[in-house]
Amino acid sequence: MSGLLIRPERPADNAAIRVLVAAAFESETEADLVEAIRTSEHYIAEMSLVAELEGELVGHVMISGATLRSRTEERPIVMLAPLAVAPAHQRAGVGSALVRVVTGLADERGEPLVVVEGGPAYYRRFGFEPAYEHGIEITVPDWAPREAGQVLRLSAYDASLTGSVVYPPTFDAFAE
Ligand SMILES: CC(C)(COP(=O)(O)OP(=O)(O)OC[C@H]1O[C@@H](n2cnc3c(N)ncnc32)[C@H](O)[C@@H]1OP(=O)(O)O)[C@@H](O)C(=O)NCCC(=O)NCCS
Repeated sequence: MSGLLIRPERPADNAAIRVLVAAAFESETEADLVEAIRTSEHYIAEMSLVAELEGELVGHVMISGATLRSRTEERPIVMLAPLAVAPAHQRAGVGSALVRVVTGLADERGEPLVVVEGGPAYYRRFGFEPAYEHGIEITVPDWAPREAGQVLRLSAYDASLTGSVVYPPTFDAFAE
C-alpha cells in the first residue's frame, strides 16, 4: 500500500491508539489490554508498531513477552497481540503490512518463534501454523477451534521449543 508508514509507537500516539483499537474491536477491552501491556515488564517498545497513512494512525500491533513452559524448563518467547486496523481502512493491506514488519523484526532480534491466537484463515498467509503441530500448546477459549493457537517459526527456531504457552499475569484480567 503506497504512503503507508510503519514505525514504533510513541507516547504521543497513545490516545489515538486507544481510539483505533477500540473502534477495530468494537470494545474497550483490547484498548485496555494494549495499555496494560505497555506498562508491564513484558512490553517490547521496538515491536509495538503503528501504521500511519497521511499523518493518520490506521493500524497498531504489539509483540510482547510470554513464557513457554515444558516439564523441565521455562523459556521466554514472544506473542503477537493485539492487531487492530481502523474500520475505514480494513481489507486494504494494513494488517498484513503490520504483521510482516513486526514478525520480521522478531526474526532480526533472534526470536525463534512468535505465537498468536487468531483466525487461521488470516494468519496462515504469513506462515503461521497450528501450534499443536509443533508440540506447542496454547489454551484457546472454548468457542475457538484448536487451530486458533498458532506459531510462526523463525530463523532461530529449533524443535526443542515445545511446551505450554503461559501468558503474563497482565493477560489474566482479559482472559475470556
Ligand atoms: C483482522 C484485521 C487486523 C485485518 O487487517 P486488515 O488490514 O483488514 O487486513 P488485510 O487487508 O491485510 O487483509 C488481507 C486479507 O485478509 C482477509 N481478512 C481480513 N480480515 C479477515 C478476517 N477477520 N478473517 C479472515 N480473513 C480476513 C482479507 O479478506 C484479505 O484477504 P484477500 O487478500 O485474500 O482479499 C482487521 O480487519 C481488524 O482490525 N479487525 C478487527 C480486530 C481483529 O479482529 N483483530 C484480529 C485479532 S487476532
